[in-house]
Amino acid sequence: MLLNIEINGQQVSAKRGETILTVLNRIGVKVPTLCYLSSLSPSGACRMCVVEVEGLSHLVPACSHQVEEWMQIHTHSPRVLKARKTLVELLLANHPDDCLYCDRNGSCELQGLSEELQVRDRKYISKYKPIQIDKACPSIQRDPAKCVL
Ligand code: FES
Repeated sequence: MLLNIEINGQQVSAKRGETILTVLNRIGVKVPTLCYLSSLSPSGACRMCVVEVEGLSHLVPACSHQVEEWMQIHTHSPRVLKARKTLVELLLANHPDDCLYCDRNGSCELQGLSEELQVRDRKYISKYKPIQIDKACPSIQRDPAKCVL
């Protein structure tokens, strides 16, 4: 059964059980995602994909929230953009300042989002402490300091 929803003023059909992100991807509306991996169950942890749904008091993560009949969704409202910017600022508060020396410099999603959302300075200060990099595997290194939740 198809549901009728509205995304940024556009009428869209969606299947029951689909997530908002699935529908957005299908119609070509891009919202940022950091923790979402299509091969895993969505955790909704980073909240970067939040969207505004009319009638709800809180923003919802598009990657884990299912569509409902007559939903009216706004993906880039001022409230959504402000929330995403704050989320990036909070992630950066716990992020090491080693971008210039990082292997991902220039191809980093967090760096790209910071640029896109015009994050220009460190707004929040945390008690960040360096965490040891896990080099137990010869082909993969895991740096917990780069975690995006
Ligand atoms: S991408 Fe949706 S919560 Fe992280």
